[in-house]
Parts: sequence; C-alpha cells; structure tokens
Amino acid sequence: MNVPALDVHLDDDEISRSLRSDVITGLTAEKKWLPPKWFYDARGSELFEQITELREYYPTRAERQILTDRAAEIARHTRARSLLELGSGYSTKTRLLLDALTASGVLETFVPMDVSPTALAAAADRITADYPGLRVHNVVGDLTRHLKHLPVGGDRLVAFLGGTIGNLLPAERAAFLAEVRAVLEPGEHLLLGTDLVKSPSVVVPAYDDAQGVTAAFNRNVLRVLNNSLDADFDLDGFTHVALWDAEQEWIEMRLRARWPMRVTIPGADLVVDFAAGEEVRTEVSAKFSRSGVQRELTEAGFTLDHWWTDQDGLFAVSLAKAIPLS
Ligand code: SAH
Ligand code: TRP
Repeated sequence: MNVPALDVHLDDDEISRSLRSDVITGLTAEKKWLPPKWFYDARGSELFEQITELREYYPTRAERQILTDRAAEIARHTRARSLLELGSGYSTKTRLLLDALTASGVLETFVPMDVSPTALAAAADRITADYPGLRVHNVVGDLTRHLKHLPVGGDRLVAFLGGTIGNLLPAERAAFLAEVRAVLEPGEHLLLGTDLVKSPSVVVPAYDDAQGVTAAFNRNVLRVLNNSLDADFDLDGFTHVALWDAEQEWIEMRLRARWPMRVTIPGADLVVDFAAGEEVRTEVSAKFSRSGVQRELTEAGFTLDHWWTDQDGLFAVSLAKAIPLS
C-alpha cells in the first residue's frame, strides 16, 4: 500500500509554545493583533474550504480557471519531478497540477506543507487513492520557519496558491521569498498565486459574505484560544470586520468587541481587557499588481517566466525560475 511519509516540525508542544508566545505578543500590543495561521485548526480548515465555495469568494474560481488553462504548459515548462506545495490545505486545485505533471510522466513526489495536520491528512488520503504511483510526503510545518527542512532534489516546483502570500506582511513576504529562493537550486521553479488589486466593491464581499461563513472563520481564532489556552472568549461578543485599506492595498480582517470585556487566558498567564469597540487585527490579505509581483520576485532572486490571469483579470498566477545567486 502507498502510505504517505510524514515529517512533523510542529508537534503539539511546539504549537502550544508558539501559540502562547504569539498571543502574549499580539494581545498585549498597543493595537491588538493575532497571526492568521491560528485560524486553521480542524474546524478552521473546514470553514476555509467552505469559503472557497462561496459565491462572493472569487479567488478560488479565478485561480482554478488559470490552472485549468495552463497546467499542461506548467508541466512542459518545469518538467518537475517533485511538487512542493506550501499552505496546501486540502490541495483541491493542486489536482490540476498533479494531473498535468503525472500525464507528462515525470512527476515522482508530492510534498504538501501546512500548519494544519488534519487538512494534510484528509488531503493525503484522497491523493494517495487517486494517484497510485505518486509518492506523497506530508510536512506539518510553518512556511515562515521550516522551509529549510523541505526535501531536496528532483527538479522541484514550489507552488504557493490561493493568494496566501498576501497574508504575510510586506517585510515577512520579502523574507519568505528570499527563503524560498535560498532552498531552491538555480533552474527550479516557483508557481505563485496572487489576488489582484480591484474595486473594493468586489474585494470586500469576498471577505464578508452574506451567509457569515467568513465571520465564523474569523471568530474561530478565538475558539482556538479557548480550546488550546483555556481562554474564556465569548465569541458572540465579537463582530467580524473586513476593511479595504486603499493605501496599503490590502483587506484587513478584524474582530471588534461589542461591549467591554475582561478575558482570562490561563494557558498564556494573561488577562486581557477589551474596551467596547476595540479591535483585534486577525489578518491582512494584500492585493497585487503585475509590476509589484515582478519586482518582489526579482528582488528575491527569481525571474518571471510567465504571468497568467483569468479572463476577468481578477487573479494572477506567476511562474518564476530561480536564478543563480551572485
Ligand atoms: N492552498 C489552499 C488553501 C489556502 S488557505 C487554497 O489555495 O485554497 C491557507 C492555507 O495555508 C491553510 O491551509 C493554512 O492552514 C495554511 N497556512 C496558513 N499559515 C501557514 C503557515 N504559517 N505555515 C504553513 N501553512 C500555513
Ligand atoms: N488566503 C486567503 C485569502 O487571503 C485566506 C482567507 C480568505 C481568509 N478569506 C478569509 C482569512 C477570511 C481570514 C478571513 O484570501
């Protein structure tokens, strides 16, 4: 039987240590914030999958269209023997790449990396069943910390889809791209999905849907703190807020306290007071232009080989090649 290999760089101990330290840093800051990776426990990953199916959430559909149109070209261009996917989640759209890369006959290994072990395990079950010849190597890890542990060799293609790169702050993004470049050999490739700048009347509803799935997803981070750190957040006490920041060109997700609250977080030895109306920033989702993506890739040591958008120009997929570092 084809059993996936598994590397775990984040065990339960490591997760609770870094969650505790992020919570202390973020919730004692002058302007409160939490890093977005803590949305994704089993329920959070499931809610995100529901977001991808919402009418308002265009990025998944647009990126799927691009991958459908371009997968064969990506396979020809990269001749990848190994596909590494960062923030892979359920790897739903990735199947388009797996289909094309296995049809061209050279793909041997698929290495999905995610902070969510449950999403990885669910994806691996389906992928090993559907791609019998493929070696699947799961990596539970943090893409901002564990890239250097990714397996080497095999004409690698690193895929980072879903516009998740926009969830990193600009300085984190530059460090991340440099790190991806550093783990690659010259001639290996990066396939990067980026959401594009567009009217707030299209972007905002994608992060504030009518059914309230995104609101539930946003509040889920508080449930994670309740479960993992024994905190006593009242989820009904927080409103979901999605704001377009025209200067930074990003969507900012926040949770706004509806009334004054004192929250105890025993797992972090912390008591946090919220004033009525006070907000916690839980995520940014930056939107990009072609020139910006090209500049950031070049600065990190890549050359942009292809830039593809969907027919409505909502989303872009870039195919970049690692160039020798001088
Ligand atoms: N690639 C999928 C999922 C995108 S959602 C798609 O395009 O639809 C973002 C994914 O990144 C989630 O699966 C989440 O668990 C993962 N993720 C978020 N922060 C991460 C981090 N720091 N390290 C690794 N994975 C992360
Ligand atoms: N990578 C996704 C994005 O930026 C993550 C995401 C989508 C998200 N909808 C969300 C994160 C709502 C928090 C809340 O599009």
